[in-house]
Amino acid sequence: MNHPFDLTGKRILVTGASSGIGRAVAIECSKLGAELILLGRNEERLVDTLANLTGDNHKYFILDFTKKNDFEGLNELISTHGKLNGLVHCAGITSTLPIKSISAERLQSAFETNVFGAFELTKWFTKKTVIHETGGSVVFIASVMGIVGEVGKSLYSMTKGALISGSKSMALELASRKIRVNCISPGVVLTPMVENGVYANDDNLFQKVKDLHPLGLGKPEDIAHSVNFLLSEASQWITGTNIVVDGGYSAH
Ligand SMILES: NC(=O)c1ccc[n+]([C@@H]2O[C@H](COP(=O)([O-])OP(=O)(O)OC[C@H]3O[C@@H](n4cnc5c(N)ncnc54)[C@H](OP(=O)(O)O)[C@@H]3O)[C@@H](O)[C@H]2O)c1
Repeated sequence: MNHPFDLTGKRILVTGASSGIGRAVAIECSKLGAELILLGRNEERLVDTLANLTGDNHKYFILDFTKKNDFEGLNELISTHGKLNGLVHCAGITSTLPIKSISAERLQSAFETNVFGAFELTKWFTKKTVIHETGGSVVFIASVMGIVGEVGKSLYSMTKGALISGSKSMALELASRKIRVNCISPGVVLTPMVENGVYANDDNLFQKVKDLHPLGLGKPEDIAHSVNFLLSEASQWITGTNIVVDGGYSAH
């Protein structure tokens, strides 16, 4: 009998797999036996993730959530490769902006990737031609910014809060089909998003952010391990929840 955390035989689609958290999720899932479909925009970095996976039969697919959400190619991949057991939406963009600088265009762009992309993909994943007959697990990477506030984070917080609240109703609607829907809300994790972001050239600000995390800043693997849990049978009685993985940030 498989260990409850084992992912052998599960086929998992991961968005944002070309970088940071999504790449770590794919790598850690493959170590537990899963077959991966990697989604991203940057082919070179997707191929790099692919090269770091354990096992065979992994695939990648180019998709930009700000373009028309066209899942035709993905449908073909499913019909040749097999149905899915899990979906992890890691693709996302962030911003740190005062309210007065948040234009309608920025709102649209942030929601397109962080929320509309997640929703359209979940709608597609739950089709009978896509999801495995035994059901499946959907995991959205939200953020602590979806449950607490920070100056300059209102746009990002709105997108992540939408995932946290929306996932609860999705979980209720899909439970009878054995489809679980959960969020993980990370604190600050050292990925290109953070390394090239607002802290990159401001050591004082970076130190302040570090000090707000009692266990220090996170590594992508810290998030990947929680995702592994939500994809596995070990979490079979968990749906509609938000697991905060933030080194103690939101305990203040
Ligand atoms: N790092 C943190 O501190 C932190 C904290 C809380 C939550 N999160 C969330 O965790 C998730 C992953 O973040 P990360 O830190 O790993 O960031 P990252 O290294 O910048 O990776 C972001 C990923 O999202 C993909 N992406 C962005 N826009 C896209 C679009 N329009 N269409 C398709 N893919 C798109 C990127 O694809 P390409 O590279 O191929 O363009 C990349 O794979 C995000 O949702 C983020 O909000 C991160």
